[in-house]
Amino acid sequence: MSLKGKDLLGLRHLTKEEIEYILDIAKTMKLVLLSNNKKTPHLQGKSVVTLFYENSTRTRLSFELASKYMGASSANIAASSSSVAKGESLIDTARTIDQMGTDVIVIRHPMAGAPALIAKNVKAAVINAGDGMNEHPTQALLDIFTIIEKKGSLKGLKVAIIGDIYHSRVARSNIWGMTKLGAEVCVAGPATLLPPQLEMTGVKVYSTVQEALIDADVVMGLRIQLERQKSGLFPSLREYSRFFGLDEKRLKLAKKDVLLLHPGPVNRGVELTTSIIDGEHSLINEQVTNGVAVRMALLYLLTRKGDSIEAVN
Ligand code: CP
Repeated sequence: MSLKGKDLLGLRHLTKEEIEYILDIAKTMKLVLLSNNKKTPHLQGKSVVTLFYENSTRTRLSFELASKYMGASSANIAASSSSVAKGESLIDTARTIDQMGTDVIVIRHPMAGAPALIAKNVKAAVINAGDGMNEHPTQALLDIFTIIEKKGSLKGLKVAIIGDIYHSRVARSNIWGMTKLGAEVCVAGPATLLPPQLEMTGVKVYSTVQEALIDADVVMGLRIQLERQKSGLFPSLREYSRFFGLDEKRLKLAKKDVLLLHPGPVNRGVELTTSIIDGEHSLINEQVTNGVAVRMALLYLLTRKGDSIEAVN
């Protein structure tokens, strides 16, 4: 099996089988990542460029490390220090990178659709590392991978996603991916931070966090995206935390063995209390590790299309 497309632009465009295939390869990559010698030759002779128009710690670094562990040449371009700052267009920048023999361009951009636009204009495989309020597919893949590691499958699990759904590309990608894999996805957040007609994507929408949390197998808190907020969507961080913040008492409404996820970065004390961030249910650190494994799998699959998993071992 191989991925159908040249690029990874979103989970909306992937089949259940493609998602499962990526996760399967990521399982092997995690073994490499946890071994004493992380160096593998699977991207030898390949080059990966990360092009970030927005800040990032986890996504950018995990792509860079994934590339290096697998033997690729990698480089990063920050929009602020590139010719973008001199007025070069997105397509011209991408074509310039493409002409240097780049195999994979990983892009984060504040505009939804920017990765799709450059994918049409370059030979390189393009990976969406987050585009505006659209998708963040590699984050959702690592979230799903983390849940499956603990629960075996997503089928029949109740997943509660809490917070700023409206601005969240992480929520959108997770909704696409998790519903394809058979989870029951519930969301709750302030009415001003819930997109209209969300039910049409197959999720249940609750106006209180308590209702969404009852008997949940998995709870995902989302970051309040202050950089994308227009003022007035909720009265104050303190108010938000009071009504939608997750703490030990609220988490007790979920199942006893509930898994707690957050894509990071966390605003401690706003979306989640420190006690549950560092508590027994939290998988936040494992999400970070799994992010490298999932990105190793994607880089491998998009540069070696058609190869079988045996080639990795
Ligand atoms: N979750 C996530 O995308 O984190 P970064 O912004 O640090 O990449």
